[in-house]
Amino acid sequence: MDIDRSALVDDYLAGLFVGDDPALDHALAASVGAGLPPIAVSAVQGKFLYILAQSCGARRVLEVGTLGGYSAIWFGRAVGEQGTVLSLEIDPAHAAVARKNVASAGLASIVTIEVGPALQTLDRFIAAHVEPFDMIFIDADKRNNPNYLTRGLELSHPGTIVVVDNVVRAGEVVDASGRDPDVAGTRRCLEMMATDPRLQATALQTVGAKGYDGFALARVR
Ligand code: SAH
Ligand code: DHB
Ligand code: MG
Repeated sequence: MDIDRSALVDDYLAGLFVGDDPALDHALAASVGAGLPPIAVSAVQGKFLYILAQSCGARRVLEVGTLGGYSAIWFGRAVGEQGTVLSLEIDPAHAAVARKNVASAGLASIVTIEVGPALQTLDRFIAAHVEPFDMIFIDADKRNNPNYLTRGLELSHPGTIVVVDNVVRAGEVVDASGRDPDVAGTRRCLEMMATDPRLQATALQTVGAKGYDGFALARVR
């Protein structure tokens, strides 16, 4: 496989399916300018999540891991004027950049960023019996993916779509030694998705601007 070509192909596909998008382009430039790591989903992945959110009629989206708000902007657009995106971020500096980017995209009234360790925020949501979410995107510290999945399911309803990002990590996922806690967390999360009777699930490998990776997809029965 010519993996070098996959970045070129991603550029080609992004040109076709996303094109110049001032709000998204600004969000990425501002994130880089603020020193955030370049680990947002790619443009075509963002569009994919946007179409997925619209396909399940999502009005409420939960995101774990905001970074500079790039994927949150896609979700904010998908849920529409009456929708809500709650995005959880541990780093106040990331959250500050994301809030600015979300506001520049005209989505300040739709996307809310909750600062703090996501596990604590999720437990607070569960205790407060917040309305369930229609779509959940898990994309933060991978060692906690099993915990995010468990909490996410408590905040779901039949039909909720769950996407977990970065489940392949250049193939590291097949390392069963358990030495890397992020790989172990990802593996445990995938096993839970595969075996939980409440879920229908699968996972896909991807290549592109973000290298060789993949995501897992589940639907709550
Ligand atoms: N979803 C974003 C990328 C998120 S990168 C996008 O595609 O645009 C992962 C983010 O998760 C980082 O900003 C990191 O600070 C945050 N994070 C890491 N550990 C966390 C935790 N315990 N709780 C909440 N956020 C966390
Ligand atoms: C990393 C995290 C991500 O969410 C991602 O999409 C890519 C890389 C990381 O922690 O390295
Ligand atoms: Mg990710």
